[in-house]
Amino acid sequence: MKLILASGNKGKLREFREILEPLGVEIVSQKDAGFDLDVEETGETFEENAYLKAAAVCAASGLPAVADDSGLCVDALDGAPGVLSARFGGGKAWTDEQKYMYLLEKLEGVTDRSARFVSCIACAFPNGDVLRARGECPGRILEAPEGTGGFGYDPVFAPEGYDASFASLGQQVKNQISHRARALAAFRKELESYAHR
Ligand code: IMP
Repeated sequence: MKLILASGNKGKLREFREILEPLGVEIVSQKDAGFDLDVEETGETFEENAYLKAAAVCAASGLPAVADDSGLCVDALDGAPGVLSARFGGGKAWTDEQKYMYLLEKLEGVTDRSARFVSCIACAFPNGDVLRARGECPGRILEAPEGTGGFGYDPVFAPEGYDASFASLGQQVKNQISHRARALAAFRKELESYAHR
């Protein structure tokens, strides 16, 4: 099966490919498919935004499209940045590094560092069918960034059970335990039962 990934995020594209392609699902970027849309994320939840992105690219292309809406929810900040993770601080004009340094600033002196990454996946089909999946990865925000792997907030997030950040644990470990890995495992099951309906 071939799915268009409704995202311009290279980190997400790499992880979707690494996890789904060994299972026989080909992932084409929306750019390579010729439908490089910038869909406005007007939803209030990860689920709503994932659906908005997948449905827009599916409608434009006439092909099945999958999207991930994800973010980092920090307990001491009442779940922020959450759905606004990509727009935290100075928004899209800011680099990932500016955003995670801004987060560390906000958490200066805060002892409760607990947080979770959330990934919601929606897959829209031209006949109107929609598959959905969700994955979470609990952990904590480090005092300082470390590591060079991954993307986004990976240098400042240590998953539960580890002292190191996602960025220093490396992609292989991240792809086993991350929010996206968990959402994609659930999505794979949905896709398999959909294909055998
Ligand atoms: P969106 O799903 O396009 O709204 O963007 C999600 C944002 O959350 C990304 O731009 C990252 O800043 C952050 N994010 C989502 N998943 C990850 C991850 O696996 N590692 C680090 N940051 C992530």
